Amino acid sequence: MNDIPKSSAANAVDPAFRRDILACFQGERRAIPARWLYDRAGSELFEDITDLPEYYPTRTETALLEKHCGEIADKGGHGKVVVEFGSGSSTKTPHLLRAVQPSAYVPIDISGDFLRDSAAALQEEFPDLDIIPVEADFMGDIHLPEAVQNSPKFGFFPGSTIGNMVPRTSVDLLKNMRRTLGENAMLLIGMDRVKSEDVLVPAYDDAAGVTAAFNLNLLARINRELEGDIPVNEFRHVARWNDNYARIEMHLEAQEDMDFTIAGQAFRIARYETIHTENSHKYGERDARLLLRAGGWAPIGEWTDPQDYFALILAQATPFNTAP
Ligand code: AVI
Repeated sequence: MNDIPKSSAANAVDPAFRRDILACFQGERRAIPARWLYDRAGSELFEDITDLPEYYPTRTETALLEKHCGEIADKGGHGKVVVEFGSGSSTKTPHLLRAVQPSAYVPIDISGDFLRDSAAALQEEFPDLDIIPVEADFMGDIHLPEAVQNSPKFGFFPGSTIGNMVPRTSVDLLKNMRRTLGENAMLLIGMDRVKSEDVLVPAYDDAAGVTAAFNLNLLARINRELEGDIPVNEFRHVARWNDNYARIEMHLEAQEDMDFTIAGQAFRIARYETIHTENSHKYGERDARLLLRAGGWAPIGEWTDPQDYFALILAQATPFNTAP
């Protein structure tokens, strides 16, 4: 496994975090990009979420991969370079790697610490595999390592993370992946289906309060990193289904009128005002295919569970100038 350099300013506040947080509290519409939910504490809480009985996506997708990875690899092609976007703890990856038998594995993640730990663990499981981690935000331009640039690619984007973006951003990301992975690439993507609110809402508002802790950690993070004094306990986690947008929304709702400071600036929030912290879009069968096509990918295979809760879709890169 190649070494990736540790950031010398590991504890420095990300200026983009500061900018986004101040913009949220200065602006009319209170919203914070969901990516800021994932500091170390948030990432650990998210790992806990994936084990919750109410949170069906992870276990459903893992079961789909276990069951169908042979067929997926046959269709997608063996021996390609597997490139995983937002690899996190790479828990689902071994199933795919065993089936695809890649020439190399390139996990891409914004969190260098997480990336290093999970790449090292994976290297133990696959001692002969060339693992080349790339510390990067997959929403930006990705430069794949020189060693894999001329090999055919098999992109992997599990977890229904695409649902955390508004459709316009999803399409931009898909196009970006298409550019990064090149002609003839394949992409295996996990997408969460539209389903009953009775299943969706508890998945994002679990009885044990782990998702609430995950959401509230964002306020604690602001206090920690931006010298804030937000009374975190005066906020309540809210998860609601927005049918018009086909998405679960997470909000933080103020339970009192409050005054607080962040980075030396004074702010006020009124009782019942909310801060919008995350969207999780759900896609019907045709919606999912349309989204992929809009991003330059032609779906060629699809696997779902018996309840049709979750879909794994295999798609092939298409030329952008396809005539009607
Ligand atoms: C990472 N992402 C796919 C999760 C989801 O289901 O949208 C994030 C999450 N937020 C609350 N629970 C899970």
